[in-house]
Amino acid sequence: MRVESLLAEAGTALRAVGIHNGAQEARWLLLHVLAADPERSPCCGGAPLDPETECGFRALLRRRLSGEPLQYVMGSAEFYGLELQVGAGVLIPRPETERLVDFALAAWRTGGAVCDLCTGSGAIALALAREQPAIPAVYATDLSPTALGYARRNAARLGLSVTFVQGDLFAPLPPEPRFQLVTANPPYVSPEAYAELPAEVSAHEPRLALWAAEGGLAIVRRIAQESPPHLVPGGMVLCEIGCEQGQAAAAAFSAAGFGPVDVRQDYTQRDRVVVATWPGARG
Ligand SMILES: C[S@@+](CC[C@H](N)C(=O)[O-])C[C@H]1O[C@@H](n2cnc3c(N)ncnc32)[C@H](O)[C@@H]1O
Repeated sequence: MRVESLLAEAGTALRAVGIHNGAQEARWLLLHVLAADPERSPCCGGAPLDPETECGFRALLRRRLSGEPLQYVMGSAEFYGLELQVGAGVLIPRPETERLVDFALAAWRTGGAVCDLCTGSGAIALALAREQPAIPAVYATDLSPTALGYARRNAARLGLSVTFVQGDLFAPLPPEPRFQLVTANPPYVSPEAYAELPAEVSAHEPRLALWAAEGGLAIVRRIAQESPPHLVPGGMVLCEIGCEQGQAAAAAFSAAGFGPVDVRQDYTQRDRVVVATWPGARG
């Protein structure tokens, strides 16, 4: 089939299942199969595609038409300028989480070690390691061995040094070093909100990465309670939250002895990150 006819057919099929930018996605999928420069249009719209390429394209198209997220079909997602490999079993990093990286970079102090809890694909840890090569040590933990597999491969591909360890929040970490920054994008979707998520998210992305008890705050509260022994005096926790969780999340950190505790907004002006400082001299 000719390139232009194949793209037109695919774009129509994608739009028919509710993917509004179907024509654009069809082009991305074809460029992915061709491993071509995404900035360029296929140069030979009227030329026939070789059968192998068409077959590969149709296989990806079927996956996308079945509702699988585009990033899983393509095998990668962009985060803070990094191309991260993603797929079944790991959360696709979201653009709003880039704001947490901005806040963490501004809060980092020379010499401070960093720990990223609930690291998933390694998005936050790898962005920090890339943007601030002077961080002496970046640790990252996740409960999911599958997610950590992606994180480790992403670090290796990007040539970035992060110590990934598998386990529950701080449990797998050694007692030293203490951290100047603890970052986290934990699961924070309440059971009620989880039931309302689009199928593209709930049927494909891991429930472990999204769902949390106590109105979505169970893991956030544990991070508030369990962080202090792992922080230097003046150390900070930066934790992503849902846009309606600002007050309750801040209260959890205040109750655990943190202060000051701020709630900061993402680029759409919604509450997104709790920034909590552990008392004492600056770390
Ligand atoms: C919302 S995802 C965030 C992934 C990544 N940090 C990002 O921003 O794209 C939450 C991650 O927390 C992990 N997780 C859930 N419960 C955990 C726990 N108790 N301890 C460590 N990791 C946990 C999940 O496996 C998942 O990878």
